[in-house]
Amino acid sequence: MKGLVKIIFALCFLLWKIDGLDNGLAKLPPMGWMSWERFMCNIDCVNYPNDCISENLIKSTADALVKYGFKEAGYKYVSIDDCWLEMKRDHSGQLVANRTRFPSGIPALADYLHNKDLKFGIYQDPGNMTCQRYPGSWGHIDQDAKTFANWKVDMLKFDGCFMPSKSAYNHVYIDMKKALNATGRHILYFCEWPSYVSQVDMRLVAETCNAFRTYNDIEDEWTSIHQTMKFLGDHSRTLSNITGPGKWNDPDQLVIGNFGLSFNQEKLQMALWCIVSAPLYISADVRQMNKASRDILLNKLAISINQDPLGKMGYQIRVDGQVRVWRKEISPVGSYALAITYENIAGGPKRISYKLSDLGFVWRARWNFTEVFEGKSFGYGIYKPWYTLNGEVNPTGVLFLHAQVLP
Ligand SMILES: *[C@@H]1O[C@H](CO)[C@@H](O)[C@H](O)[C@H]1NC(C)=O
Ligand SMILES: *[C@@H]1O[C@H](CO)[C@@H](O)[C@H](O)[C@H]1NC(C)=O
Ligand SMILES: *[C@@H]1O[C@H](CO)[C@@H](O)[C@H](O)[C@H]1NC(C)=O
Ligand SMILES: *[C@@H]1O[C@H](CO)[C@@H](O)[C@H](O)[C@H]1NC(C)=O
Ligand SMILES: *[C@@H]1O[C@H](CO)[C@@H](O)[C@H](O)[C@H]1NC(C)=O
Repeated sequence: MKGLVKIIFALCFLLWKIDGLDNGLAKLPPMGWMSWERFMCNIDCVNYPNDCISENLIKSTADALVKYGFKEAGYKYVSIDDCWLEMKRDHSGQLVANRTRFPSGIPALADYLHNKDLKFGIYQDPGNMTCQRYPGSWGHIDQDAKTFANWKVDMLKFDGCFMPSKSAYNHVYIDMKKALNATGRHILYFCEWPSYVSQVDMRLVAETCNAFRTYNDIEDEWTSIHQTMKFLGDHSRTLSNITGPGKWNDPDQLVIGNFGLSFNQEKLQMALWCIVSAPLYISADVRQMNKASRDILLNKLAISINQDPLGKMGYQIRVDGQVRVWRKEISPVGSYALAITYENIAGGPKRISYKLSDLGFVWRARWNFTEVFEGKSFGYGIYKPWYTLNGEVNPTGVLFLHAQVLP
């Protein structure tokens, strides 16, 4: 979680043997909630009793995930980020959660979530300290993995601050993968490895982590979404070759339902994250979210595109000035999801017009087009490859389409 990140990937093939991550998890992009972007390192429970990083925040969020239908829609991992620890390990070197803010302890919190059929995610850092300077896992990787397994943790986000040396990045994430495996508990494993190291073997990363951050921390504003979109535009085609079931590229949390994005920008973030098969982790206050944002996050057709059983990552297929076309192969085979984004920040809607065969619709087939957010038939409804797709896209918005091949 550092600010600026280098974005050059070199597929340099290292010579050590790759033991793939085979923990049986994340067959589809994982979904949940994560505290970081919205609640950051707020540890002031006096002035912010409902928003400080605490068991109260996690429990009330879990309640709201159930109450408002997020759990049922698939958002199951409730993941606490940095700032949950005491400043010191205990006498046996074990991690301890802050006793004031987690008075019942982590195992009780995990039980609370499990009783609601939710899963519990935790955060650590392989370096000497976490990014917010709490004790890191350096020198304690096996011990911390065992602690997490004993606590019935279901997911670990492993950051990358305060690493004693550059070369340590080459092994710490693999060490933790092995340590987690050795516990016998199936723990979903997110890592930030590629966002800290400019030259990294992305295949090795994909074999090591269930999800891996490749770009900067997301923030609650259009520029951040736009930068991430440009990064995905440059890299999604390459990344799609190494992602798939058990190994997903993570462009970071969904900030939908916060303060900084417009309705159009929220729809764009959702569409793009669904197309690129990103993990869908909401970082917002789900206890009090406006219905329009909630409906975007709960949209069944959008989620079905993200969770499509073929498990392919979609990618950018065209750039025409400020218009980008993104496409994902979905089931039944021959079907596609399309997202057409328009990044102008002034003016009105942009008219787009593409012959379908120019967007890869080349089968001798027919497709049924649905506009995803309205859930309504789009354009002619049924399209053939030589038809032209005409539509409009709002500034900083998206046209999100589901094209199901017909028998
Ligand atoms: C550990 O790795 C082995 C071999 O890759 C795999 O079969 C097993 O399911 C893994 N166990 C856990 C708990 O991840
Ligand atoms: C635990 O959290 C409280 C409340 O935020 C804070 O005042 C205290 O310093 C923290 N304790 C440690 C050991 O970090
Ligand atoms: C990290 O901590 C270890 C153990 O305390 C220490 O030996 C090492 O010097 C530290 N490294 C850095 C870069 O602070
Ligand atoms: C993706 O993989 C295919 C098959 O291995 C290869 O032909 C293609 O060049 C790769 N594309 C990119 C962008 O890496
Ligand atoms: C096409 O999709 C619409 C929803 O957009 C649906 O109502 C309709 O039944 C579908 N038609 C076919 C032939 O599948």
